[in-house]
Amino acid sequence: MIPYRHEPFTDFSKEENRKKLDSGLETVSEYLGKEYPLIINGERIYTEKKLESYNPAQKSETIGYMSQAGREDADRAMEAAKETFKTWRKHSFEFRSDVLFKAAAIIRKRKFEFSALLVKEAGKPWNEADADTAEAIDFLEYYGRKQLELKDGAYVESRPGEYNQFNYISLGVGLVISPWNFAFAIMAGTTAAALVTGNTVLLKPSSRTPIVAYKFIEVLEEAGMPAGVVNFIPGSSRDIGDYLVEHKDTAFISFTGSRDVGVSIYEKAAKVQDGQVNLKRVIAEMGGKDTIVVDSDADLELAADSIVKSAFGFSGQKCSACSRVIALSDIHDELLEKVVAKTKDLTVGNPESDIYMGPVIDDASLEKIEKYIEIGKQEGKLEIGGTTDNETGHFVNPTVFSGLKHNDRVMQEEIFGPVVGFAKADNFDQAIEFANDTDYGLTGAVLTKNRAHIEQAREDFHVGNLYFNRGCTGAIVGYQAFGGFKMSGTDSKAGGPDYLLLHMQGKTTSEML
Ligand code: NAD
Ligand code: ALA
Repeated sequence: MIPYRHEPFTDFSKEENRKKLDSGLETVSEYLGKEYPLIINGERIYTEKKLESYNPAQKSETIGYMSQAGREDADRAMEAAKETFKTWRKHSFEFRSDVLFKAAAIIRKRKFEFSALLVKEAGKPWNEADADTAEAIDFLEYYGRKQLELKDGAYVESRPGEYNQFNYISLGVGLVISPWNFAFAIMAGTTAAALVTGNTVLLKPSSRTPIVAYKFIEVLEEAGMPAGVVNFIPGSSRDIGDYLVEHKDTAFISFTGSRDVGVSIYEKAAKVQDGQVNLKRVIAEMGGKDTIVVDSDADLELAADSIVKSAFGFSGQKCSACSRVIALSDIHDELLEKVVAKTKDLTVGNPESDIYMGPVIDDASLEKIEKYIEIGKQEGKLEIGGTTDNETGHFVNPTVFSGLKHNDRVMQEEIFGPVVGFAKADNFDQAIEFANDTDYGLTGAVLTKNRAHIEQAREDFHVGNLYFNRGCTGAIVGYQAFGGFKMSGTDSKAGGPDYLLLHMQGKTTSEML
């Protein structure tokens, strides 16, 4: 087997690659506006109730109409998943991994189509869409390989006359609930991890990005996944979300999304229902309020580039996005000036053309960001941005606030948009103290040339993903396992060496010889 290497990113400065993305956009344009079904036990089910998925950069453009599962569909999907589990869990580790490897190969062939779909359905600029597709491929390649390593279980000792084994077995039916911001990668990664470990899946993708999820299920089918292994049930959270979270036959829930929803799922899953025979496991990867600390001796050009990229890449709509800067007082003003100057150069618009930032995802998101911009104006000084345009698409200009205290609201609450705030610290100890003073603990970065400060931060900066002398976004599967502490979630470490074990249970057998 070829050792795992992450999927390279596409260089869009090359004309040939730009043409490939253009041709992907043409392919996607040919299937815009179609109706899509649920997929239960391989059967396509068109429901009367449908939800429109639209282009956030051009609201009038419909990506597709997605059927919506109700309670009865959820019940059918659960029955199909339970029945299929009886056989799927017995498929060989090789067969299950092969489904992932073949799916990766199919996606690689259609890479530019998938990226183009993300440009249109999620409003991603080309490089962000390309990274999302690459990460989906990475999850498939990485988890396929990791699962094969678990095939023989783990070695345990045996005494004379005794034969002991320790094996990993599946859990049952998993409910996978995914967000829109990594509409492909997180949806595909969480689904792939659940199914490759021999579980069957109920996939409820985000209502904002269901079409890319549907296309992924088609790929899995083409790759040889048997019917009933993944049952595709987009639907309203009110109708089927809580219902399936609380269902007695749900063995585990793999959730990625906001803190409020994650906490509520965590609570509901803990309650044992009548007839339930397993305690549910919950993987909950939630929000972030991620800080970049800039030390007195840092390379300020690098620091400013890192802040701008981490704060405004994909319009700040990443759990890993930088939304707080804690700068040492002596370099604060120079750093701020550089960040503002670089922000001035950013372009905002429809990501189908060559721009840096596309839209935010919807009206609710734009309104939330506007609310925080108003709060920011009261708490600090607006340096740049602060304006929005909701005419043809949901656009927010990149926004920088200075003069904030580290515990102001814009420095504490997840905004999930292109807004970053600056606060000062008197010394490095205080900078780390301020950085840690949030409910979240997902990503963080420190820019410094001071070795002692690097080691201090390594120990004391309490985040799941800590980076030095770079930005705080862009973890790579198999290289930087991803997941957060505190109210950022259960620290499942997606794309890491232990992730699959969360979807399995260890079984000991001991035979007397
Ligand atoms: P969200 O919480 O609104 O929705 C996430 C998913 O949960 C969606 O599929 C939604 O339909 C579903 N959902 C909502 N209510 C539900 C309920 N009661 N029962 C079951 N399912 C329900 O989040 P979002 O807006 O899609 O994504 C943005 C959020 O996700 C941000 O907070 C971001 O930080 C977080 N996020 C975290 C990570 C991570 O790895 N930590 C990665 C990506 C996004
Ligand atoms: N895994 C994504 C990142 O690191 C969220 O930016």
